[in-house]
Amino acid sequence: MIRASAPAKINLVFQVGSLESTGYHPVNSLYLELDLREEIQLQRKSDIAGVNILVQSHTLPSRHVNAVPTDSSNLVYKVAHKLFTNAGIDLSELEVQITKRIPVAGGMAGGSANAAAMLVATNEYLFEEYAVAKLADSELLGLAAEFGSDVPFSMVGGLAIGTGRGEKLVSCEPLRFETHWVLAIANEGLSTPQVFAKFDEISQPNNFTDLSVELGSIEELAKLMTNALEPAAVSLLPTVGQNLQLLEQLGSLKAMVTGSGPTVIGLFESAEKATFAAKTLTEMGLLALTAVPNYLGTRLER
Ligand code: C5P
Repeated sequence: MIRASAPAKINLVFQVGSLESTGYHPVNSLYLELDLREEIQLQRKSDIAGVNILVQSHTLPSRHVNAVPTDSSNLVYKVAHKLFTNAGIDLSELEVQITKRIPVAGGMAGGSANAAAMLVATNEYLFEEYAVAKLADSELLGLAAEFGSDVPFSMVGGLAIGTGRGEKLVSCEPLRFETHWVLAIANEGLSTPQVFAKFDEISQPNNFTDLSVELGSIEELAKLMTNALEPAAVSLLPTVGQNLQLLEQLGSLKAMVTGSGPTVIGLFESAEKATFAAKTLTEMGLLALTAVPNYLGTRLER
C-alpha cells in the first residue's frame, strides 16, 4: 500500500487582475500551508476492472464526503490516467482511498491537495508495482498545473508567492512569528469559476504589489492581508459576511475570505485565543477548525 499526504492552503494575499482570453485571471498571491492534510492510499486489487475511488472523513460532516465525485471527473482519476498512460500501462486494479480533512469547495485547495498527493503516490505506485522509472520531483511539479492552478502550491507548500494563475511559485522564508488560524467553514461550497465571474461583474482588477516583503510581526501580516475575491464571495453567499463579522468580534487580528471562499480565516496571536474562538463558533452551530502553519508540502507517508 502506498500513502501520500498533501496540505491545505490559505491565501494571505490574493490580488486578481483582469480576465484574460485564456479564461483565467492573472493573480498575485501569498500562499501559506496549514497543518490540515488530505491523505491518499493506493492499493492494487486484482478484482477491480478500472479505478475504485473511496472517500471518507473522520473530521468533517458528510456533505464534505458526499460532494467528492468518485468517477472519472475526480482529479485523482485524471492524475492516475495521465501517469498510467504516460507509462503505457492500462489503468486498472487500482483502489484509491481519500481521507478528507480539508473542507470541500472551501477555497483551501482540498481538491488540489488530492491531485498533488495522487501525483506523488501514483509515481511511487507505478515504480513499485510495475517497475516504471520514477519521475523526478521537478517533472511532477511540471505536470501539477495541468490539474488546477493550486496544485503546484500543494506540492511545494510552505510560504510562497504565486503568480500567473497561481502556479508560478517563488518560495519564501518561513514566518518568523507564531500565527494561529481559525477556519470558519460555511455550510455550502462556492464554485471557483462562479466567484471569479462575480468578481468580473462587481470588482475592479487590482494593481499588483511586491509581495516579497519581510514580515517582522503578526501586526504587519494582519495589515498586509487582503483578498480581491472577498466581495464576490460575500455577495454570492451572505453567511460569509456574517462569519467575517463573527471572527472579528471574537478578537481575530484580521478576518478574511481565503481563495475563492467561502471559508473565512481568522488570524490569532495565541493558541488559547484561537481555540476559544473556534469553540465559541462551534457552540453557535458553525463548523470551525483551528490550524497552524506547516512547511512540508506533499509527501509520501511510510
Ligand atoms: O485552475 P482551477 O481548476 O482552480 O480553476 C478553476 C476555474 O477558476 C477556471 O476554469 C477559471 O474559470 C477560474 N480561475 C480563474 N483565474 C485563476 C484561477 C482560476 O479565472 N487564476
